[in-house]
Amino acid sequence: MTTWFITGASRGIGREIAEQALRRGDRVAATLRRPEQLDGLAEEYGDRLWRRRLDVRDSARIEAVMAQAFADHERIDVVVSNAGLGVFGAAEDLTDEQVEGTVATNLTGSIQLARRAVPHLRAQGGGVFVQLSSMGGHLTFPGFAIYHATKWGIEGYFETLAAEVAPFGIKTVLVEPGMVRTSFYDAAERVPLSAPYRGGPADAPRPRVEDMPASQSGVAHATIEAALSDDPPLRLLLNSDAYDAVTATVRGRLASLVGQRDTAYAADAEYPALSA
Ligand SMILES: NC(=O)c1ccc[n+]([C@@H]2O[C@H](COP(=O)([O-])OP(=O)(O)OC[C@H]3O[C@@H](n4cnc5c(N)ncnc54)[C@H](OP(=O)(O)O)[C@@H]3O)[C@@H](O)[C@H]2O)c1
Repeated sequence: MTTWFITGASRGIGREIAEQALRRGDRVAATLRRPEQLDGLAEEYGDRLWRRRLDVRDSARIEAVMAQAFADHERIDVVVSNAGLGVFGAAEDLTDEQVEGTVATNLTGSIQLARRAVPHLRAQGGGVFVQLSSMGGHLTFPGFAIYHATKWGIEGYFETLAAEVAPFGIKTVLVEPGMVRTSFYDAAERVPLSAPYRGGPADAPRPRVEDMPASQSGVAHATIEAALSDDPPLRLLLNSDAYDAVTATVRGRLASLVGQRDTAYAADAEYPALSA
């Protein structure tokens, strides 16, 4: 029986992973800000569901809850760092609290969770660490700068971590969905555009959930399959919109970089050129 540890298990993708794992017959250590939101699941699944209150902005609490989860289970096979949020608005218009709150949740929270999970995974001889990233960790949409900053940041952190912990039998998966029909877009804060940005690139229409190609159940299912596979990819790109947009963006970026070869090489030389 597989045991899962999940953050942000109250709703959306995190809850869906928890429910699908429970339906498979697995054990779930679910963490969320209001554990009572899982009362129904607790009644249905009894002691296969373990729950604790956890706000991922609280590093001391992450440490305590993680230690307790490993102590209360024989082993934890998969840790899923899922909790996250978005703020829509022009980069200039965001408040300090919005910048710091998004970074604290999506980036610092995920880093601190990984730092607390790795020693336990290493001690038990391995496991899987799954980090929810996004197609927004490869490309950007105007009006979503701070979200992209956190997802691009987490991509860099996890690519590095993955290499460091692979010798301990710890596999690392960055899950990169497209736009998924969850409560994410309703929950996201909207910062009113200041006058200079109205009608500009940041003044994009709010994405309509009904137009999004991906279901949370499909994303959760693919994530579970990857986490349980023998050789999961470092990056798990999910959904048709993400596949099309990310492959086109990365191709375009490569073409632009390759076009700069001569400038790049020329910059190795001293400037101005030293006379012999
Ligand atoms: N939906 C998409 O289109 C999409 C696409 C790509 C990637 N993702 C990523 O997938 C992950 C889950 O998103 P979702 O679509 O399932 O969003 P969601 O439906 O809004 O769920 C977000 C979850 O994160 C939790 N959360 C937020 N701040 C938290 C904090 N400080 N501490 C603990 N939990 C916190 C929420 O808990 P509360 O109920 O307490 O607020 C909720 O459980 C996120 O990392 C998101 O960036 C989503």
